[in-house]
Amino acid sequence: MITPQTLIEMKKKGEKIAALTAYDFPTAQILSESGADVLLVGDSLGMVKLGYSSTISVTMDQMLHHLLAVSRGISGPLLVADMPYLSYEIDLKEALVNAGRLVKEGGAQAVKIEGGGFVADIARELLKIHIPVMGHLGLTPQSVNRLGGYKVQGRDSKSAKKILDDAKALEKAGVFALVLECVPADLARKVTSQLQIPTIGIGAGIHCDGQILVSDDLWGISRGPDLKFVKRYARLRETMISSSRAYMQEVRKGKFPGAEHSF
Ligand code: KIV
Repeated sequence: MITPQTLIEMKKKGEKIAALTAYDFPTAQILSESGADVLLVGDSLGMVKLGYSSTISVTMDQMLHHLLAVSRGISGPLLVADMPYLSYEIDLKEALVNAGRLVKEGGAQAVKIEGGGFVADIARELLKIHIPVMGHLGLTPQSVNRLGGYKVQGRDSKSAKKILDDAKALEKAGVFALVLECVPADLARKVTSQLQIPTIGIGAGIHCDGQILVSDDLWGISRGPDLKFVKRYARLRETMISSSRAYMQEVRKGKFPGAEHSF
């Protein structure tokens, strides 16, 4: 069983961490069998599975619904759940209650929170009630409206310094790992080398201690445009369409079910 401490040990040993998102029971089983280190029930759920245009609309109830399905299928990887937008920002007590629900009702072993600054204070409080926290800096999709779109962050020296300072503040607060999303590879290298906790990159280059991808992207289920940082290891969307068409054709031609499928 992988724990937050395992990931820190992996960094010390120079072993790369392979993380993926999961939103349902079969995916949790498949990725457990595949040997993933971390499964994240990300709030990308909203875009990948629920058809929203951003992660902002995702609710606690939706997260819990999908988290429970994943926790029934997972065996081995560390299970991390995203805290959705406005579930932790408004009030510390609410943040503690919501994180507690993800752990107690949903079966998460840790929660992920986006942002630096005040997020470090929330992380400190969550640790007091024994909830491990993963940080998330760079392109933080819950801030898409303030950021003005899904853009690479930390390109200029001022914003790069802010990301590095935030990373150090999160580490000091006790977060056990840090997602770096869409930042230049050089900045990710600098952050990674200055932290004891592992960095997990998505669109952050090769120097991070681990990588995470949205599983539907790696499987080629999601519809393009292909993002620069995504590698499609399969083309399951095409396979799903062609197999569905084959079934429909056979039904329409009276070829399915055949004698072997009948009682
Ligand atoms: O919501 C999510 O899936 C994420 C990962 C892409 C890091 O935050």
